[in-house]
Amino acid sequence: MVEKLIAPSILAADFTRLGDDIAMLNKSKADYIHCDVMDGVFVPNISFGVPVIQQISQITEKPLDVHLMIVNPDQFIEVFKQAGAAVLTVHYEACPHLHRTIQRIKQAGMKASVCLNPHTPVHLLEDIIRDVDMVLIMSVNPGFGGQVFIENSYQKVSRLKELILSKNASGLIEVDGGVNYETGKKLYDAGADVLVAGSFVFQSDQPLETINHFKKL
Ligand code: DX5
Ligand code: ZN
Repeated sequence: MVEKLIAPSILAADFTRLGDDIAMLNKSKADYIHCDVMDGVFVPNISFGVPVIQQISQITEKPLDVHLMIVNPDQFIEVFKQAGAAVLTVHYEACPHLHRTIQRIKQAGMKASVCLNPHTPVHLLEDIIRDVDMVLIMSVNPGFGGQVFIENSYQKVSRLKELILSKNASGLIEVDGGVNYETGKKLYDAGADVLVAGSFVFQSDQPLETINHFKKL
């Protein structure tokens, strides 16, 4: 059976006690810690950046899954490697030379992942799918936590799974936005490998148990 992976997004954590939330994640079965970096240009919001990620990396062994919602990500590849990123995700829509960007991320020693906004079709990845370690499907428009899940995302996951199989590729499928037990179960069933969950985890009364429950969906 394919393992169900879960990546809690700390965008929904309590930043006044971030160390406690990371300690909770360390004790949980979370497979990654998802870190949302926003620049106020690519997306209409600003979150946090390199110093925060660098400090988180010092208090966790969990791999950091860094989702760059920024323009010109090439400029920051080495900086995020130094900050402790294990997986670096760039947006298809922000990378005119995506092939080069992906190679640079891998050369820097990280897993390379490409993200598709809700309007970007899966077939545009045909010629890059064998080069990437992961594809991140946005199931909301990036920029904010707590948004409503876009139903078309299930189909995108299925189509991406078909593309990966048809090209004999091996990248993982990750989905981000509006994930809860209901959408999460359907996404795993459609072929998703990794689910990102922010609000649903951190607004729950028992975040650790909530994280662990995803593995059993
Ligand atoms: C949105 C971010 C997400 C966000 C998800 O731009 O990429 O990772 O944290 O939040 P929820 O799970 O609340 O939809
Ligand atoms: Zn994200």
